[in-house]
Amino acid sequence: MSHQSHSTHESASSSTARRGTDGPTRRRTLAGFGLLAGSSVAVSACGSGGDSSSDTSDIDPNNPVDIAAASDVPEGGAIKVSSDGVTAVVAQPSPGQYKAYSSSCTHQGCSVTVQDTTITCPCHSSTFSIQDGSVQGGPAPKPLPQYKVTVDGGRITLS
Ligand code: FES
Repeated sequence: MSHQSHSTHESASSSTARRGTDGPTRRRTLAGFGLLAGSSVAVSACGSGGDSSSDTSDIDPNNPVDIAAASDVPEGGAIKVSSDGVTAVVAQPSPGQYKAYSSSCTHQGCSVTVQDTTITCPCHSSTFSIQDGSVQGGPAPKPLPQYKVTVDGGRITLS
Protein backbone atom coordinates (compact mmCIF):
# COMPACT_ATOMS: atom_id res chain seq x y z
CA MET A 1 0.00 0.00 0.00
CA SER A 2 1.51 3.15 -1.06
CA HIS A 3 0.61 6.04 0.97
CA GLN A 4 0.69 9.12 -1.10
CA SER A 5 1.88 12.00 0.82
CA HIS A 6 0.52 15.01 -0.67
CA SER A 7 2.83 17.80 0.03
CA THR A 8 1.89 21.18 -1.07
CA HIS A 9 4.91 23.01 -2.09
CA GLU A 10 4.41 26.43 -3.25
CA SER A 11 7.37 27.95 -4.77
CA ALA A 12 7.99 31.34 -3.38
CA SER A 13 8.48 33.60 -6.24
CA SER A 14 10.15 36.30 -4.33
CA SER A 15 13.27 35.58 -2.48
CA THR A 16 13.88 39.04 -1.27
CA ALA A 17 12.36 38.61 2.09
CA ARG A 18 14.08 35.53 3.25
CA ARG A 19 13.37 34.11 6.51
CA GLY A 20 15.56 31.88 8.42
CA THR A 21 13.24 28.98 8.23
CA ASP A 22 12.48 27.25 5.07
CA GLY A 23 8.97 26.57 5.95
CA PRO A 24 7.50 23.40 4.51
CA THR A 25 4.40 25.04 3.32
CA ARG A 26 4.25 28.60 2.68
CA ARG A 27 1.02 30.05 3.56
CA ARG A 28 -0.62 32.35 1.27
CA THR A 29 -0.96 35.57 3.00
CA LEU A 30 -3.81 37.66 2.11
CA ALA A 31 -2.70 41.16 1.99
CA GLY A 32 -5.76 42.89 3.04
CA PHE A 33 -4.38 46.26 2.85
CA GLY A 34 -6.48 48.41 0.72
CA LEU A 35 -5.25 51.84 0.41
CA LEU A 36 -8.12 54.13 0.80
CA ALA A 37 -7.59 56.77 -1.71
CA GLY A 38 -8.06 60.03 0.00
CA SER A 39 -11.77 60.33 -0.05
CA SER A 40 -12.57 63.69 1.21
CA VAL A 41 -16.22 63.84 1.92
CA ALA A 42 -17.27 67.37 1.84
CA VAL A 43 -20.61 67.90 3.39
CA SER A 44 -21.95 71.03 1.99
CA ALA A 45 -24.61 72.38 4.18
CA CYS A 46 -26.80 74.67 2.28
CA GLY A 47 -27.83 77.34 4.63
CA SER A 48 -31.25 77.89 3.29
CA GLY A 49 -33.14 79.62 5.93
CA GLY A 50 -36.38 81.03 4.91
CA ASP A 51 -40.02 80.44 4.68
CA SER A 52 -41.08 77.06 5.84
CA SER A 53 -44.15 76.14 3.97
CA SER A 54 -45.51 73.48 6.22
CA ASP A 55 -48.36 72.22 4.18
CA THR A 56 -48.69 68.83 5.67
CA SER A 57 -52.11 68.04 4.36
CA ASP A 58 -51.21 66.71 0.96
CA ILE A 59 -53.59 64.19 -0.42
CA ASP A 60 -52.46 61.26 -2.46
CA PRO A 61 -54.41 61.53 -5.74
CA ASN A 62 -54.80 57.77 -5.69
CA ASN A 63 -56.38 57.92 -2.29
CA PRO A 64 -59.10 60.52 -2.33
CA VAL A 65 -60.42 61.57 1.03
CA ASP A 66 -64.14 61.51 1.73
CA ILE A 67 -64.33 64.66 3.78
CA ALA A 68 -67.95 65.65 4.25
CA ALA A 69 -71.54 65.40 3.16
CA ALA A 70 -72.45 67.99 0.58
CA SER A 71 -75.54 68.82 2.60
CA ASP A 72 -73.35 69.87 5.53
CA VAL A 73 -71.82 72.72 3.60
CA PRO A 74 -73.99 75.83 3.75
CA GLU A 75 -74.75 77.72 0.59
CA GLY A 76 -72.61 80.81 0.46
CA GLY A 77 -70.58 79.55 3.39
CA ALA A 78 -67.97 77.07 4.41
CA ILE A 79 -67.12 74.55 7.09
CA LYS A 80 -63.88 73.26 8.44
CA VAL A 81 -63.75 69.50 8.46
CA SER A 82 -61.26 66.73 9.13
CA SER A 83 -61.11 63.23 7.82
CA ASP A 84 -58.33 60.68 7.37
CA GLY A 85 -55.78 63.08 8.77
CA VAL A 86 -56.74 65.81 6.34
CA THR A 87 -58.23 69.05 7.55
CA ALA A 88 -59.79 71.27 4.94
CA VAL A 89 -62.12 74.17 4.53
CA VAL A 90 -64.97 73.11 2.30
CA ALA A 91 -67.02 75.90 0.81
CA GLN A 92 -70.09 76.28 -1.34
CA PRO A 93 -69.68 79.76 -2.79
CA SER A 94 -72.69 79.33 -5.03
CA PRO A 95 -75.39 76.66 -5.00
CA GLY A 96 -74.01 73.32 -6.08
CA GLN A 97 -70.50 74.63 -6.52
CA TYR A 98 -68.04 73.26 -4.00
CA LYS A 99 -64.51 74.30 -3.27
CA ALA A 100 -62.01 72.99 -0.75
CA TYR A 101 -58.92 74.64 0.60
CA SER A 102 -55.99 73.67 2.73
CA SER A 103 -56.53 74.68 6.33
CA SER A 104 -52.91 75.77 6.70
CA CYS A 105 -52.47 79.49 6.52
CA THR A 106 -49.98 80.48 3.85
CA HIS A 107 -48.37 82.96 6.22
CA GLN A 108 -46.92 80.75 8.91
CA GLY A 109 -49.02 77.65 8.76
CA CYS A 110 -51.55 78.25 11.49
CA SER A 111 -54.82 76.43 11.14
CA VAL A 112 -57.46 78.70 9.72
CA THR A 113 -61.06 78.85 10.86
CA VAL A 114 -64.31 79.80 9.21
CA GLN A 115 -66.20 82.85 10.40
CA ASP A 116 -69.47 83.36 8.60
CA THR A 117 -68.46 83.65 4.99
CA THR A 118 -64.79 84.30 5.53
CA ILE A 119 -61.82 82.09 6.21
CA THR A 120 -59.79 83.61 8.99
CA CYS A 121 -56.42 82.88 10.50
CA PRO A 122 -56.34 83.32 14.27
CA CYS A 123 -52.60 83.92 14.41
CA HIS A 124 -52.14 87.18 12.55
CA SER A 125 -55.63 87.81 11.23
CA SER A 126 -55.17 86.97 7.60
CA THR A 127 -58.46 86.47 5.83
CA PHE A 128 -59.24 84.43 2.75
CA SER A 129 -62.16 84.30 0.37
CA ILE A 130 -64.37 81.25 0.31
CA GLN A 131 -64.82 81.89 -3.42
CA ASP A 132 -61.32 80.99 -4.41
CA GLY A 133 -59.12 81.04 -1.30
CA SER A 134 -57.58 84.36 -2.28
CA VAL A 135 -56.11 86.64 0.36
CA GLN A 136 -58.51 89.31 1.53
CA GLY A 137 -56.37 90.81 4.23
CA GLY A 138 -53.48 90.29 6.61
CA PRO A 139 -49.93 89.16 6.06
CA ALA A 140 -50.66 85.94 4.16
CA PRO A 141 -48.56 86.06 0.97
CA LYS A 142 -50.67 83.83 -1.23
CA PRO A 143 -54.05 82.13 -1.52
CA LEU A 144 -54.90 78.94 0.28
CA PRO A 145 -54.06 75.91 -1.86
CA GLN A 146 -57.12 74.28 -3.32
CA TYR A 147 -57.99 70.63 -3.35
CA LYS A 148 -59.69 68.95 -6.23
CA VAL A 149 -63.29 68.43 -5.26
CA THR A 150 -65.51 65.63 -6.45
CA VAL A 151 -69.14 65.42 -5.43
CA ASP A 152 -70.63 62.00 -5.78
CA GLY A 153 -73.66 60.53 -4.09
CA GLY A 154 -73.98 63.51 -1.81
CA ARG A 155 -70.44 63.10 -0.53
CA ILE A 156 -67.57 65.47 -1.08
CA THR A 157 -64.28 63.85 -1.88
CA LEU A 158 -60.93 65.60 -2.03
CA SER A 159 -57.93 64.64 -4.03
S1 FES B 1 -50.07 82.32 10.29
FE1 FES B 1 -51.95 82.96 9.46
S2 FES B 1 -51.79 85.09 9.48
FE2 FES B 1 -49.92 84.47 10.27
